Amino acid sequence: MNGTQAEKVAIDVLTGDPLATNAAGVVVGVWDDGQMAQDLKKKIDTALGGELARILANGEFKGEPGETFFLPTFGKMKSRYLILAGLGKRDKTTAETLRKLSGTVAGAARRRNLSKLHSTLTENVSDSAQAAEAVVEGTLLGLYRFSDYKSKPQNGSKSKVGKNGEYTLTQLSLQATKTSDRKVRQGVEWGQAIVRATYLARDLGNQPANVATPTMIAETASRETKKRGIRYTSFDRTRMEEMGLGALVGVAKGSNEPARLIQLEYKPAGAANTRPVLLVGKTLTFDSGGISLKPAEKMETMKGDMSGGATVLGTMMAAADLKFPLWIVGLMPATENMPSGTANKPGDVLRAFNGKTIEVINTDAEGRLILADALSYGIKTFDPILTIDLATLTGAVTVALGAHTLGVMGNDQKRIDQIIETGTEVGERGWQLPLFEEYYDQIKSPVADIQNVGGRGAGTITAAAFLSHFVDDKPWVHLDIAGTAWVESDEPYKPKGNVGIGIRLLIHFLNRLAVEKGSRKRPSKPAKRK
Ligand code: BES
Ligand code: MN
Ligand code: ZN
Repeated sequence: MNGTQAEKVAIDVLTGDPLATNAAGVVVGVWDDGQMAQDLKKKIDTALGGELARILANGEFKGEPGETFFLPTFGKMKSRYLILAGLGKRDKTTAETLRKLSGTVAGAARRRNLSKLHSTLTENVSDSAQAAEAVVEGTLLGLYRFSDYKSKPQNGSKSKVGKNGEYTLTQLSLQATKTSDRKVRQGVEWGQAIVRATYLARDLGNQPANVATPTMIAETASRETKKRGIRYTSFDRTRMEEMGLGALVGVAKGSNEPARLIQLEYKPAGAANTRPVLLVGKTLTFDSGGISLKPAEKMETMKGDMSGGATVLGTMMAAADLKFPLWIVGLMPATENMPSGTANKPGDVLRAFNGKTIEVINTDAEGRLILADALSYGIKTFDPILTIDLATLTGAVTVALGAHTLGVMGNDQKRIDQIIETGTEVGERGWQLPLFEEYYDQIKSPVADIQNVGGRGAGTITAAAFLSHFVDDKPWVHLDIAGTAWVESDEPYKPKGNVGIGIRLLIHFLNRLAVEKGSRKRPSKPAKRK
C-alpha cells in the first residue's frame, strides 16, 4: 500500500463478540503453552466443534513467535478464516511482539487477498493503548510498498486471486472491552499518526535522488507543515553564506542541486515548555562521497542518506496531528555530496557557524559538516532545552551494532537514559557508546581547530565527538541511525528499503517530556504482559 491507500483503511474498535465480526479473517494470539487471551479458546473451540483443541494437541500449531495458521471455518464462524498467530513465551510478550506479529499476519493476509481483518491481539498485552498502537503500526507498516515506478500494479500475491489492482486492506477492526475501549481508541489514533508520518519518511527515503532533491524535500516539508500550522522557513545558498554556515555551504558547493536549510517551528498555544526542543536531521539527498569518492557497490543506497531529516519532518507531522502540547523546532540541512570542479577538496578548511575551523581530511565525512552548522545555528537561535540529532552518520555504527540498534551518544546522561528506555518500550532500541575525552585527540588538526575524521578506531564515537564541538555544552543527544535506517531484506513490519526509523521513538520520548513538563498527553509506562 502507499500512503493514500493506507489513509483509506477504516479502523474500527469493537467491544462485542469477536466471533461475530464479518471480517474475512479473525486474528487470535496463541502463546507457546497453547493458551489464548480471555475466554477465546473455549469460545472458538465450541464454534469449531473441537477442531482448535485437536490442532493444538497435535502440535500442528505451536504458538511459536511469528508462526501463523489460517484455519478455514467452513461457515462455522462468520469469518472465512480463523488466523492463529504465535506469540511465543507468555512472560516475554510485549507491544513489540504484537507489532511484529501483526506485520507477519498482514503479509500472509495479503498473499490470500483478504481485505478485512479483525485482530484480537489487543487482548494479549495489558496496556491497551500500547497494544492497539502496535497492532495498527505492525499491520500498516508491514503492508507498506514503494511502487511509484512500477508500470504494473503490485499485488504482492503470487496467486491470481487479486482483482486487477494492487492489494489493499480496506478494513481493520480491533477487539476491545467496555473498560479498554477508550485506551484502544487512543492507541489507534497514535498508531495512525505514526504510520502516516512513517509512510512519508519511507517514501522520501525510497525515492531516487534525482527525485528527492533538496528542493523536492523542501516542497514536501512546506506542504505537510502548511496543513498542520507548523511554521516553515527555508534558507537558500545565498542566505546560508550570509548566515555564516560555511561547513554546510562547503559540502553543497560541489553539487548542481540547490541546497537548503529547512526550518520547521511547531509552537502550539499553551505549550508546556517555554524553550523549545530542537530536532536536527541529516538530510543528505545523495552521498557519493565527493572527491573522496565511494566505491560503486551499494552506492545507490546513499539516496537514503537523508533519513534523519525525513524522521524530523515525520516526527513534527505526527506531533502536530496528535496535538502535542510541546514547542518543537526541526532543522533539516539538505544537500547532495558530489565530486566536481567546485567540490570540497581534502585539505580544504571550512569555517562553521560558531566560528570553529574544520580541516576536511575526507570529503565523505560530510554529514558531520552539515550537522555542525545546523546544530550550532539551531542552539544559538532557539536556546533549546534539549537538542536531539539523527543522522545516517557512520558505516562504523553498523560494524558495532548491526541493523537492529541505534548508536546513542551525547552529553546529557539523564536524557540518554530516557531515550534508550523509550526505545526499548516502543521497539526502536538504542545502545550508548562512550564519549571519553581521549577520543577527542583523534580529531585534532595540525592546521585548523579540528579535522573531520578521526582515523580507523571508534569511527562512530569520533563522529559524535566532532559534533559535540558544535553544541556548546548544551543538553544534546545524538542518534547514529546509519545501521537502522535501511533494511536489506523484508522484516515483519519493515519491507526492504527505508525504515522511517526513529519517528515512533521520538514521538513517545516527546510525550514523556510533555508529561514531565506537567502537560499530560498520555501516560508513558512500559507495556506489561497480562
Ligand atoms: N552517509 C555515510 C554513512 C553511511 C554508511 C550511512 C553506510 C549509511 C550506510 C557517511 O557520510 C559516511 O560516508 N561516513 C564515512 C565516514 C568516514 C569517511 C570517516 C564512513 O562511515 O565510511
Ligand atoms: Mn559520506
Ligand atoms: Zn553521508
